[in-house]
Amino acid sequence: MKQAEYKLMIEGGRSLNGKVQVSGAKNASLAHLCAATMARDPVILENVPDIKDIRVVIEILQEIGCEISWLGPGELKLFAPEKLKRQPPFELVRKLRASNLLLGPLIARYGSVQLALPGGCNIGVRPMDLHFKGLSGLGTEINVNQGVVESNTRGLQGSRIYMDFPSVGATENIMMAACMARGQTVLENVAKEPEVVDLANFLNCMGVKVRGAGTDIIKIDGNSEMGGCSRYSIIPDRIEAGTFMVAAAATGGNVEVENVIPFHLEPISAKLREAGVEVIELEESIKVRAGKDMYPVDLKTLPYPGFPTDMQSQFMSMLCAVPGTSVIVENIFENRFQIVDELKRMGANIKVEGRAAIVEGPVQFQGAHVKATDLRAGAALVVAGLMAEGCTQISNVKYIDRGYYLLQEKMTNLGAAIWRE
Ligand code: UD1
Repeated sequence: MKQAEYKLMIEGGRSLNGKVQVSGAKNASLAHLCAATMARDPVILENVPDIKDIRVVIEILQEIGCEISWLGPGELKLFAPEKLKRQPPFELVRKLRASNLLLGPLIARYGSVQLALPGGCNIGVRPMDLHFKGLSGLGTEINVNQGVVESNTRGLQGSRIYMDFPSVGATENIMMAACMARGQTVLENVAKEPEVVDLANFLNCMGVKVRGAGTDIIKIDGNSEMGGCSRYSIIPDRIEAGTFMVAAAATGGNVEVENVIPFHLEPISAKLREAGVEVIELEESIKVRAGKDMYPVDLKTLPYPGFPTDMQSQFMSMLCAVPGTSVIVENIFENRFQIVDELKRMGANIKVEGRAAIVEGPVQFQGAHVKATDLRAGAALVVAGLMAEGCTQISNVKYIDRGYYLLQEKMTNLGAAIWRE
């Protein structure tokens, strides 16, 4: 039976307790794998989560000629030879948004590429104008014909590029391409997400000079020959960590979330504390205990270090049970409120007005048949299912499998009654 046909079942009403290990960051891994195609020598990445999105990128890379193998759990070896196919298979590329991150590296090393416009979760329009503007600024000719991006260059040249919005993907794509450009590139108003910083660290490990990641300006001194990287360990997944933190709080539980960088979780921890949750930061873990009283909060999604759009839906589930009115403003992806209709099936009282959702609590969720509308909405429905009275059935599990490694097993270890049918 195909994975997509499974349903996730949850018998709610149990609090989560115990310890859970967070896996490597999905979004960092996707970018690092694309970046690794620029290296002349083999690259070994550690802490790569074996999830659907990663498997699709591996398949794309293998299809164009990269040699990739798992050396052990989370340990991936990649080698990109001198010659690669310049046309990654369209049907695979369309499966995920992050395949757009191949554009920068492939154009930089191989000089031309034809990439289908990528697909992925239906969370908004997700244009690529900022990617194109930056890559053009470095000397790439870009044409989009019938859903295919054709790009060519006679050689990239370092440049000064201002990003109109600090897009994560555009920052990463342009930063990667600039690594093989002649001279220096100065990128202004860039994304500051931890995944961008991790990518910069990885690129440095491959022999380029990238400075300033984590601030508004990144400077890159290009290097036409990039070496390999004998070992690079990817940062923990802050969104997976945040999902467990919210699930612990929402179920009245007490959970230690291990293998995290607490600093990366600050925007999430701060909001949880505001809602009355006890959050204690240790060196590489974070303890979360539900508060005796929970309070409504207002939140706005923003680029890092603002509140992450990828945690918005999980908070929405939790806030439904909190007495009072919470207001959630989604500034990044306009379709993130598709989950509202699903939560309403479980009893939620939420009104959407444009980019704002007004959540009135408290409600006691009732188990229902619901559908994951995107990856994070799926995670949020799992949180809601854990909070609900009775049994919740979640369909479209394929979305959840894209981004969470062993979610069901990890939740079970914490005491959840969750299984697949
Ligand atoms: C990445 C993450 C995703 C996260 C998002 C925001 C990966 C694989 N995915 O997505 O999980 O939710 O960052 O933190 O890392 N935009 C434009 N033009 C562009 C590019 C983006 O207008 O050329 C807009 C988008 O429509 C959106 C905003 O910029 O409104 C942010 O998008 P961006 O930061 O690019 O997100 P992704 O890199 O796609």
